[in-house]
Amino acid sequence: MSPGPWPQNSSFGDRGLQVGGLDADALAAEYGTPLLVVDEEDFRTRCKWFTFVFPRVLFAVKAFPIRPLIRIAFQEGLGLLASTGGEVEACLRAGARPEVVALHGNNKSGDELELAVRAGLGVVIADNADELERLDRIAREAERTQPVMVRVIPGVEGHTHAYVDTGGRHSKFGTPIAEGLALQAIKLAATLPSLEFRGIQAHVGSQLLSPEPYLQEIGTLLDLLAEMRDAVGVEARVLDLGGGFGAVYTDEVVPDPAEMATAVLGAINQGAQDRGLQVPEVVVEPGRALTANAAITLYRVGSVKRTPGGPTFAAVDGGMSDNIRPALYGARYTAAVANRPEGDEPRPEYRVVGKHCESGDVLGDFQLPEDVQPGDVLAFAATGAYTYAMSSNYNRVGRPAVVGVKDGASALWLRREDVSDLDRLDVFQAPEPDTPAPAGVEVRPARPRDAGEFIDVIRQVAAERRFIATEEVTWRPRMYRRRFRRSRTDKAATFVAVADGRVVGSIGIRREDWRTNRHIATFGMSILKEWRGRGIGSALLAEALGWARGVGVEKVSLTVYPHNSRAVALYRKFGFVDEGRLSRQSKKSYGYDDEVIMSRWLR
Ligand code: LLP
Repeated sequence: MSPGPWPQNSSFGDRGLQVGGLDADALAAEYGTPLLVVDEEDFRTRCKWFTFVFPRVLFAVKAFPIRPLIRIAFQEGLGLLASTGGEVEACLRAGARPEVVALHGNNKSGDELELAVRAGLGVVIADNADELERLDRIAREAERTQPVMVRVIPGVEGHTHAYVDTGGRHSKFGTPIAEGLALQAIKLAATLPSLEFRGIQAHVGSQLLSPEPYLQEIGTLLDLLAEMRDAVGVEARVLDLGGGFGAVYTDEVVPDPAEMATAVLGAINQGAQDRGLQVPEVVVEPGRALTANAAITLYRVGSVKRTPGGPTFAAVDGGMSDNIRPALYGARYTAAVANRPEGDEPRPEYRVVGKHCESGDVLGDFQLPEDVQPGDVLAFAATGAYTYAMSSNYNRVGRPAVVGVKDGASALWLRREDVSDLDRLDVFQAPEPDTPAPAGVEVRPARPRDAGEFIDVIRQVAAERRFIATEEVTWRPRMYRRRFRRSRTDKAATFVAVADGRVVGSIGIRREDWRTNRHIATFGMSILKEWRGRGIGSALLAEALGWARGVGVEKVSLTVYPHNSRAVALYRKFGFVDEGRLSRQSKKSYGYDDEVIMSRWLR
């Protein structure tokens, strides 16, 4: 394993940074930035290392809870540690067998416990006595026996950042060993009828760089096991030490897993023997140590700015939304210009900042080549843990895309979020506005002699290519002349907007054919470019919805390209909300386009 922060299969050469056999620059160009690039082999190798040296390893999926990584982890023989129902679902939906999934968490909801029991999770790591009782009740109702472990607070300080120091005496996670509290909980776990007690779990903290904290933890936990045996007659088969194995962010020296395992397993064997205990099965739960160094983030520099007497800023196109760790924990990273070779030019210090409206949106201070300029690609190492997992949409930015790279090929794992993804939860149905046709514009049912101009409008809009599915219109007026003899039936309707004596826009609406979907109508609309933004769209849409109501349609749907903001705004004004997205549904001259489905109910 490479000792530095960069992924195993990466190198700096003549063309700059390469990862997984691909130029970082080319990846940034192909997928856009910010971009998370995961070296798949690196992650796989780390999984193998841990499983090779520890008897049982659970991947703490919270570090980077995405399907491709979860899959690799269970293929490599790791179990999965979930901290919420959402993470359990992520594991199950990634195809993991429920038996390999463990659920922990300090405040599990009834739904989460229910999910665990019904799905048949391998183990629930109960936080406290109250939770054990709730879990027992749920398991009894489901007529199941749920394997459990008890999370205890060892009272060991991890000597790491206070926010990730979880094993100290006053931690919110688990039941304190002090005052016999853990013992009581364990007794309960061993006696409640629908639970099967397996053992105890603790977690000292994160980013631990030596075996020391684990050794302290082990001493305390083995004492507890001996006490359990003596005081309540219960033996633990499993001893779960938690996660916390460190990653390399800058120049940390991280002991390799074998070294850790030797120290830890040796201490457990010896400690168990000293206390006359059976050696328990040892479990570890690494998150960061598996994912952090497997991934990098690529940003594009947007501006470089000197402040007299102050720092020189290089602003990138992401920031605290895709990596909150520097702002939240003062976490430090390694960064480098990725799109050209590293030279030996002077390297002044830059303060790399994001694009968010927050002075604290700083990714760190770095020595970078003196000619860093807008357009350069900056790579951050070791961003595979708790970055995507903790990302947000602050300032309405979409989360970055994630690509996996391996042997010179890349695959899109998670696509970038765009504006319509951010809209999809906004389901408030605005009341339909009252929209009279603007002055000088008449909106009416199409007539036979509109046919030529009607087609012409659609032809012109089609020629713009970006708004409607058709790019080239070859229709003949004859058919429309005939159709427009009855342009309003109880099946379909076409309305036109007439201004300056000619057709400048139209809407066609049509209900579905079958008994089971006749309550739905769909429509398409076109307005000449010069006439947009004047209320014609609203007037046409109001007319079409009026028709729909009149014939008993209950729901109106449409599809729109996600980038067509003006149309989306109009539909939202009329109470339409997103219902989903069809990926690459249109093959246009400029490439594929997704279609977003929007709809509203008419009442
Ligand atoms: N097991 C338990 C019970 C945990 O609570 C955690 C992490 C892990 C395992 C995995 O820890 P790891 O090996 O990844 O250190 N957001 C923080 C880290 C929070 C960790 C929470 N628990 C950060 O960005 O540093």
